[in-house]
Order: sequence, then C-alpha cells, then structure tokens
Amino acid sequence: MGKLQNIDRRDFLKKSSLCGLPFLLPVEHTNFLNNSEKIKDHQNAGDPINFVFDGPHQSPKDYIELLTSIEKEQGIEADTYLKGGATKKLEEEFAKLTGKEKAIYMPSGTMANQLAIKMLNGENPKVIVPENSHIYRDEADAAQSVHGLRLVPTGIDQAFFNLEDLQKTIRELDENEVFRSGLGTVVIENPVRRAQGVAIPLENIKEISSYCKENGFKMHLDAARMHLASAYTGVLPAEYSSHFDTVYISLYKYLNAAGGAILCGDAEIIDQMDHQIKIMGGTMYQSWSITAVAMHYLQNIENSLNAVLKTSEELIKELNELEEITICNIENGTNIFQMDLDKNIDSEKFSRILYKEHQMLIFPNKENKMRFAANASLLNREISEIKNAWKLSLKKSKIN
Ligand SMILES: Cc1ncc(COP(=O)(O)O)c(C=O)c1O
Repeated sequence: MGKLQNIDRRDFLKKSSLCGLPFLLPVEHTNFLNNSEKIKDHQNAGDPINFVFDGPHQSPKDYIELLTSIEKEQGIEADTYLKGGATKKLEEEFAKLTGKEKAIYMPSGTMANQLAIKMLNGENPKVIVPENSHIYRDEADAAQSVHGLRLVPTGIDQAFFNLEDLQKTIRELDENEVFRSGLGTVVIENPVRRAQGVAIPLENIKEISSYCKENGFKMHLDAARMHLASAYTGVLPAEYSSHFDTVYISLYKYLNAAGGAILCGDAEIIDQMDHQIKIMGGTMYQSWSITAVAMHYLQNIENSLNAVLKTSEELIKELNELEEITICNIENGTNIFQMDLDKNIDSEKFSRILYKEHQMLIFPNKENKMRFAANASLLNREISEIKNAWKLSLKKSKIN
C-alpha cells in the first residue's frame, strides 16, 4: 500500500461523492465552549474539520443520507440475525483482506476481543495483555468477571512491549507462583490507542509471534484501527494478520459505520463464534445498516487514508510556518502529532475561535501542548483556507 502520489483532493472527493458529505461537528465534546457558542447551524461556517477524532463526525441526518445514497447507488441487502445480505458480503471481504479463512460480524470490538481470548485460551486461565490496552483497561474487567480469565499486563509504562518484556513477564509468573496455571493467549494492540496511535514495528510483532508459536501460545490482535496502521507503515492488513490467530477490526473507527466489529481467523475458531455471540446476547436481528456503510468505506479506504496522509503532511508543513505553532511527529507515529502552541497564545481562546468562526475542532490544553489528529475531515477544505483560519484565530487569541 504505497502513498498516493499527486492526488488531487477535490478530484478525490468528487469521485467518492459520499466522502464529501459535510458532516456536522459534534457539540458533546466541546466543554470549553458556553452552550450559546456551540454551532447548531453550520451552513455558513464552511465544511467542518476536526483535529480530534478518528474521522468526520456523523449526525443521524448525515448517516441517513449516506445510507440512502448507498442504497440508491448499489442497493443494500438485509441480513437476518446477522446472517446473509450486506453482513455476509462484508465478512467475505474481511476474510480476503486479512488472508484468514473466515470473518464474522460482532456488535462491538469489546465482544470481539473478549470472545477471541475466551475461545483461543481453551482451558488456560491466563492471558498476557499490553498494560495500556483497551482489552486491559477499557473492557470493564469482562475477562475476569464474565469469562473466568486472568489478564496479566506487560509492557508497563511503555507504548508497547517487546519480546524481552514478554519473556520477563512469563518468567516472573513461573518463578513467583507456587501453583502454576497455564498461559493461553498473548494479545497485541496495534496501533496503540493510549500511546498516541503509534504503530508497533513489524519486526517486533514477528519476534513475539514466532516465540509464541514455538511455545504453543495463541495470539490475538486488537487492530481496531488496522487500516490506519497499514496506511502509515505500508504493511498490508494480510501481513499484520499472518502473525496472529485472530484479528479484530473496528467498523466505526475509520470505516464510519454506526458501530460494530469484525473478527477474523481460521474456520475452526470463527465457526464457534456464532454460538458465543448468541449466549452473550449479541445476535441482533439486523446489522445491515452498519455493515453496508462499512463496506462502502472499505472500498475506498486505501485512497482515502492516503489522501489524508498526503494532505496532512502538506498542511503540517504550512502550519509550521506560523510562528506560534510547532507540530512534530511522534516516534512510530501514525495520524496523531504533538502540537506546541507559543506561550503567548491562550489555547482555550484559540480553540474557541477556531470552532465558532471556522468550524474547526481542536481540544485546548492548559500547558499549550495539544494533540493534532489528521483524519478524513481534513479533505473538506483547501489547505490555504485552513491555514488562513488558523492564522486569524492565533491573532485573536494572543495573551498580550
Ligand atoms: C483499540 C481499541 N480496541 C477495542 C475497542 C472497542 O471497540 P467497541 O467500542 O466497538 O467495543 C476500542 C474502542 O475505542 C479501541 O480503541
């Protein structure tokens, strides 16, 4: 997946008409604004851009319009209890994309992660997980409380763990526990959400994976943002997936669906998931409104993310020409950058003006150290227009 050369953004938007819908900016994340300042009618403020989320924010109206145009352009076939129609099509596409035998839709990434480790683990109680991962920190102790699994964290205070960290954790378990119990699965999250979206170097993944294979441990990949990692590293989803037994990819992070997840793996494991989803209460009557949208974006995801990558490179170069702004890459970073604002700028005021006057959302920070995320909403406007909006907002938010 190489970077797109010489892509014309407007042309790209025209060709992928639905990507150009002027999604609304979310008001629920703008604590730094008074209620009266939140934009309700965006008609005259230009198409919205956010430097915060995984993608453009879709209101119910946006989503309905999107579904309507997909139905008009391609037709949508309904599924029943997650079987057939748009959902089956999407599953087949993901199996191909990851090079796995099968893929299955699940209502959430949390369910995909939990069911993957449950089924991979067999009779073993222990699962080693990254200390900063979603599976360890953000899944409400589901592994412990629902599935009888013990999550053992590794890579404490690091963006990601390496083979040595894993071996040390295993050694410590062996040395410090009298009544030993089995380790079933090792989990990797890539890109790492709690470490500014860094992508783990492939060599690191390969080393861990071959060690796990040699020692009979299964491997699960939480690749909620798989396409993002691929766009920034050039490592294809199938290459990442080849080092794992199961792989989960989100349908709403970069595929803009209203929710949902896909879990991919060998038929032997995926065929058991249907029953598991049902006993967890996840067998929704219909999922086509999610899977049809994910499929729509999947068809163009490489081009879309490459356009974001190229445009954000150009935009950052331009913004760095402004005296008060320094935007830097993060080591192994993907689409998130560190942005330092000059101490002479009131960061809250800057964010407020950008939002109110230009429909651009970036979160303020008391120390003027802000997080700059590049996503498809960037493609909504010309770089010169964005730069100008920033220039005007900086001017109005000087402290003295
Ligand atoms: C890395 C990662 N894994 C898993 C999930 C869980 O996804 P879901 O919200 O679909 O349960 C998220 C959601 O934020 C995530 O960022």
